[in-house]
Amino acid sequence: MSASSDSASSHLDRRTFLKGASTLGLGVALNSSALISGESPAAKPRRRRYAIVGNGSRSVMYQTAIEKDFRDHAELVALCDLNPGRLALAQARSQQLGGTPPPTFIAADFERMIATTKPDFVIVTTIDGTHDDYIVRAMDAGCDVISEKPLTTTPEKCRRIVDARRRTGRTCRVTFNLRYSPPCTQVKELLMSGEIGDILSVDLHWMLNTRHGADYFRRWHGHKENSGGLMVHKATHHFDLVNWWLGAVPESVFATGKRDFYTPKMARRMGLSGPQERCRTCPESSRCTFYIDLAKDPTLKALYLDHEKHDGYFRDRCIFRPSIDIEDTMNVLVRYQTGTTLAYSLNAFNSWEGYTIAFNGTKGRLEHSIGAPKPGGQPVSGAARIALIPLRGPAREIEPWTGVGSHQGGDKVMLEDLFLPSPAPDKYLRSADERAGAASALIGMAANRCFETGQLVRIKELVPGLSDPTYAPMPSRDAPVPMPGAASA
Ligand SMILES: NC(=O)c1ccc[n+]([C@@H]2O[C@H](COP(=O)([O-])OP(=O)(O)OC[C@H]3O[C@@H](n4cnc5c(N)ncnc54)[C@H](O)[C@@H]3O)[C@@H](O)[C@H]2O)c1
Repeated sequence: MSASSDSASSHLDRRTFLKGASTLGLGVALNSSALISGESPAAKPRRRRYAIVGNGSRSVMYQTAIEKDFRDHAELVALCDLNPGRLALAQARSQQLGGTPPPTFIAADFERMIATTKPDFVIVTTIDGTHDDYIVRAMDAGCDVISEKPLTTTPEKCRRIVDARRRTGRTCRVTFNLRYSPPCTQVKELLMSGEIGDILSVDLHWMLNTRHGADYFRRWHGHKENSGGLMVHKATHHFDLVNWWLGAVPESVFATGKRDFYTPKMARRMGLSGPQERCRTCPESSRCTFYIDLAKDPTLKALYLDHEKHDGYFRDRCIFRPSIDIEDTMNVLVRYQTGTTLAYSLNAFNSWEGYTIAFNGTKGRLEHSIGAPKPGGQPVSGAARIALIPLRGPAREIEPWTGVGSHQGGDKVMLEDLFLPSPAPDKYLRSADERAGAASALIGMAANRCFETGQLVRIKELVPGLSDPTYAPMPSRDAPVPMPGAASA
C-alpha cells in the first residue's frame, strides 16, 4: 500500500471535520448536546479511552463497539490512518453512531495523537506488516495495546514487540475472535473434559473458496511484505485455535507451499489474454468471473474507491498478476512441545469454504467441521458439526452451540470480554496476549521460511526466549488410559 499521504499532515479538528463532512455531502448536523457532556465526572466510573489506528474495514467493528454497544464504558478519543479520506469517513461514522467525532491524525502524527488525546488503549487495525510499528510506538508512549491478528509478519518484528512489552510493562492483547465462536469454544470444552483422552495428533484442513479466497489476491494481502502471506495472515487464526485447543506450544515446523491457481498462466488457461492491472480498467471484464465492480458496491466504494486518490491503493487488482508473491496451496506439519503433531493444509481456490478437523486422542476421536458440501445443492457455509467417536464404540453426534453475528457469533462474545470493565471469569482462557499472538504467527513465519529453504524450522530459533502462553489445564499425558473396549472402560 502506498504511503503517499504521509506528509500531508492533517489533524482534522472538529470544525475542519464538520466543514469537510458537509463538502463530502455526508449530511452531518451539528448536535450541540452530543458535543457537550452534561454528566458529572463523579456520576459514573471513568470510561476507558481508546484510539484506533487503521480505519478500514475491520476497524468498524471496534468503532461500533466503543461508540454504540459499550459507550457506557468506552470512549473513542482519536483516529489515525495514512488515508485522510478514510479518516473523514470514520468521523462521519462516529456521528452516525451517536458519538462525538474524535479528532483525526495522519499516520506521521501518531505520537502527537497519543500526547494530545491520552488514550489508555491503542487499537491496531492497520495492515498486518505495520502492526509491530504501532504496537511498539504505542507501548513506548505509555499505552496498552489491542492488536488485530496476526500479531506481526516476521520474526524480527516479533522480537521488537516482545522486547517492547518487557521494556515498557504495557499489555498487548491479540484479538483471536475464533476462540470465542460458540462451536470452537464447545470443542475446547469437550477436549478439556477428557472424553477423548489426551491428544496425540490433529488433522486440520482449511478451505477458502474462489470468491473469498480470490479476494486475498486482489488486495494488499497479495504481497508478503504487507501480510506475511496466507500462512501468517490467515493461518494465524487456525494455528492459534489448535495451540489453544491443545493448550500446547509449537516446537518445529516443516512445510511446502506454492502458487498454482492465481497465476498469469491460469488466466490464459481460463481463456483470458493474460493478467491485467485491475478490474476497473480490465478490457476482458465481461469474460472474467472474478471481476468485481467497486463502484457498484456501496461499502467498497465508500471505503476504497472514493479514496484511491490519497494513497493509490486499488482494492480490485487483478488476481492473476505476476507480482503476487503469496501462496495459494500450503501443507504444513507442526510438532508441539508435548509431542502432539498437527497436519494442516490451506487451499485458497476451493469449491466450498470452511474446515474439517479431527483430534486423535488416547480414548477416541473428535471430529468437527464448519461448512459442508451439499450433494445437489449449494455448499452450506457456517454449518457446524461435532462428533465424538470412542476407540471402540458408537459415534455420537453433538448438538453444536450457536451464536448470532459474524464468526458464528464469536465477535460479539469477544467484544464483551474486551470492553466490559469486569468481564465474566473465563474457564477457557480465551483472552490472548502477545505470547499467543507470537506462538501462532511464528508457525506461519516458520512455514514461510521452510518454503524457501526446504529445511525444518525450530520456532525457538526464530525468536529466542519467548514466554509460553497461558492455557487452561488439559488432560494429563501421564494419566492411566482404559483398555479400549474393555467392560470397565
Ligand atoms: N479477526 C478477523 O476476523 C479479521 C478480519 C478482517 C481483518 N482483520 C485484520 O484487521 C486488520 C485490518 O484489515 P482490514 O481488512 O480492515 O484492511 P483494510 O485495508 O480495510 O484497512 C486497513 C487500514 O489501515 C490503513 N493503513 C495502512 N497502512 C497504514 C499505516 N502504515 N499507518 C496507518 N494506517 C495504515 C489503511 O489506509 C486502511 O484504512 C488486518 O491486520 C487484518 O488482518 C482481522
